[in-house]
Amino acid sequence: MHDPQHHTNPLAGLLDRYSVGTKHLADPAPSLDELRHMAAAALRAPDHAGLVPFRFAAIRGQARGRLADLFEQAALIAGKGTEDAGRDRHRALDAPLLVAVVARIDPGHPLASVHEQWMAVGGALTNLLNAAHVLGYAGKMLSGSKVRAAPVVAAFCAPGEQLVGWVVMGTALKAGSPKFNKPAPAKLMCDWP
Ligand SMILES: Cc1cc2nc3c(=O)[nH]c(=O)nc-3n(C[C@H](O)[C@H](O)[C@H](O)COP(=O)(O)O)c2cc1C
Repeated sequence: MHDPQHHTNPLAGLLDRYSVGTKHLADPAPSLDELRHMAAAALRAPDHAGLVPFRFAAIRGQARGRLADLFEQAALIAGKGTEDAGRDRHRALDAPLLVAVVARIDPGHPLASVHEQWMAVGGALTNLLNAAHVLGYAGKMLSGSKVRAAPVVAAFCAPGEQLVGWVVMGTALKAGSPKFNKPAPAKLMCDWP
């Protein structure tokens, strides 16, 4: 649909990003170069003391099969039946590409508190999603209890790291749309009385 505002509003690329889940994603997925371009945007997140308390791991092509094995194991560990475990397996296989989001929070840092470091992780994730969107891709951040399953954690995290989840990414078959009723901007940006 032609949207005349899209050409005049410099924030258009930020305002029309909506998450798109796996079932509405297809190839092409971003290349490694494009993912690194997105990582450059993630590095522009506000980050007290410049700790960069995050990193990303792209799960591309055949690697999705190994992630599928881990998703299946995590489901079985969680007590799910074989049918549900098979469905979880497909959460990795059906995504054109996944990007694991790994946080590295230093609880004893003298300057940046734990919550400030998590804010940097959130800012990085947001910039990554926005960068994907303005490059013409779509995606969704997903987590679930499997981020805490021992074999999954062992596959992604070094000591001191935490797995936040995975961003599924690809080309949208269907544009994302609002899922929640969000307040008008004037409700959250007010003059201090
Ligand atoms: C850390 C994190 C984990 C999330 N995990 C899930 C998840 O497991 N399942 C899900 O449906 N949405 C999850 N979400 C929410 C979606 O990624 C998305 O933000 C939400 O559906 C709102 O969509 P929007 O981005 O279009 O506003 C998560 C978001 C964050 C920040």
